[in-house]
Amino acid sequence: MRKALIAGNWKMFKTEEEAVLFTEELARRVADVQDREILICPPSLYIYPVVHALVDSSVMVGVQNIFWEDQGAFTGEISAPMARSTGARFAVIGHSERRQYFAETDDTVNKRLMACLKASLTPIVCVGESLEEREAGRTLDVVGSQLGKGLKGVSAKDAPHLVIAYEPVWAIGTGKTATPQLAQEVHAFIRSVLKGIFGEKPALAIRILYGGSVKPDNIDDLMAQADIDGALVGGASLDAASFERIIRYKG
Ligand code: PGA
Repeated sequence: MRKALIAGNWKMFKTEEEAVLFTEELARRVADVQDREILICPPSLYIYPVVHALVDSSVMVGVQNIFWEDQGAFTGEISAPMARSTGARFAVIGHSERRQYFAETDDTVNKRLMACLKASLTPIVCVGESLEEREAGRTLDVVGSQLGKGLKGVSAKDAPHLVIAYEPVWAIGTGKTATPQLAQEVHAFIRSVLKGIFGEKPALAIRILYGGSVKPDNIDDLMAQADIDGALVGGASLDAASFERIIRYKG
């Protein structure tokens, strides 16, 4: 019912040449994959050459962030219509590294998300608790509050265009993946929050990705969970063989 989405978040890695070579190799490796969607999110500088390298491929391209105004005197920023005009179809919004290092808040997540929807760019809205919050038993409160504030004003009509990524901060880049059961518990909670906001049917159409140390050896068990509809992969998406194995998860 929900087509799985496997997304690679390159973060701030690769030169332009490496980006293009990687993309060409990935496109060759996954040319036969049809039953799941594949997305790569390179640094914005490389959107154009990467999109160009994918003309004959079903692999899609996204950006890692956008600013909420369409245009203006905002040195260093790129807008959702700009990203869309280069061929990007998705945008990662509110990644924990942006919350941690670039003062992203639930309020700015909401502004960016609205800008994405207006520009027909699919937002991947990231939520997740820190280790301290988990240990204090506050995971569901934190995630519920991030969703409530981040998704403010989104209509049920737009809901199916949303993608949510649950990324526990303590699992990102640490090699410590959430167990499939623990991830499913939070994903099921996210689904219930989405039902409360948008109603049953729209909520069932929203894909909820898991992110945080996803690797070839844990993807199968994660994808076997009822409410895990895909993955947002950092480190393991930088290597074509490991990303291919993740894309070809069994299940
Ligand atoms: P990781 O990153 O797979 O390297 O843990 C995931 C992410 O930050 O999206």
